[in-house]
Amino acid sequence: MLIETFVLTPFQQNTRVVACETTREAICIDPGEPSIELAKFIRDNDLELQAIVLTHGHLDHIGGTTALANEFPDAEILLHRDEMYLYEALRQQPLLMGIDGDQAKALGMDYEDPPEPSRFLEDGEEYPVGELTFLVRHVPGHTLGHIVLAERSEKAVFTGDCLFSGTIGRTDLPGGDYDQLIASIKEKVLTLGDDFTVYCGHGPETTIGRERVSNPFLNDQYQLSRGRID
Ligand SMILES: [Fe+2]
Repeated sequence: MLIETFVLTPFQQNTRVVACETTREAICIDPGEPSIELAKFIRDNDLELQAIVLTHGHLDHIGGTTALANEFPDAEILLHRDEMYLYEALRQQPLLMGIDGDQAKALGMDYEDPPEPSRFLEDGEEYPVGELTFLVRHVPGHTLGHIVLAERSEKAVFTGDCLFSGTIGRTDLPGGDYDQLIASIKEKVLTLGDDFTVYCGHGPETTIGRERVSNPFLNDQYQLSRGRID
C-alpha cells in the first residue's frame, strides 16, 4: 500500500493519497484545498484516481474536492449521507467558524459549491481499491456522518478528525456529541486491533494500542478529572 501525505490548509490537515501498488488504483482521502503538488503526485506516479473519499464534511477536509474532481473527472466522490449538512454548506462554513468574507478569500476559502457526490458510503461497506479493501465504519460524534476507513490486511485506519495522537476530535461544532464520539471510537475504531497504525486527519500517526493505553479521553483519566465515574 502506498500512502502519501500532504499537509494542507491553515489547519494543517493531512490530505492523503492511498494506492494499491500492484494495480496503481488510488483514492484521495480528504483533499483539504486545491493543490498542484497533490495532482502532480497522482500523475507522476501513474496512479489512477478512482475516488475522492471524504471522512467528513468540514472545510479543511473537503475544500479541495472541486479542484481535484476537475483534474480527475472519472473519480467518484464518496461520503456518508449524514454528512451532507456540512458538504452542502461548504460556502457558509468559513462564516460559521468566524472567518468573514475578506479573510476567507485571503485564506483561499472562498469556495464554490462542491460537485454532487457519486453515491453514499454505508457503515460496514467494503470498498475495493485494486488489491486493497477499505472497511467503512460510521463514527458519529465529531460530526453526524463521519466515517473511518480501515484496511485490515495492511493494519491501517484513516480516522479523519475522530481520533488523533493523544486526543480526540472536537465536539463543540454543529452535529458534535462528546459521549457519542467516545462510544464511536471505542466500538468502531479500538476494536480493529492494537496493532493498527492510525493515520489521523491532523498531526502524527499513532497506533490503536498506544491510544487505548495513553489517550486520556480513552483510558478514563479525562472522565475522572471531570468528576464523572461512568
Ligand atoms: Fe473536522
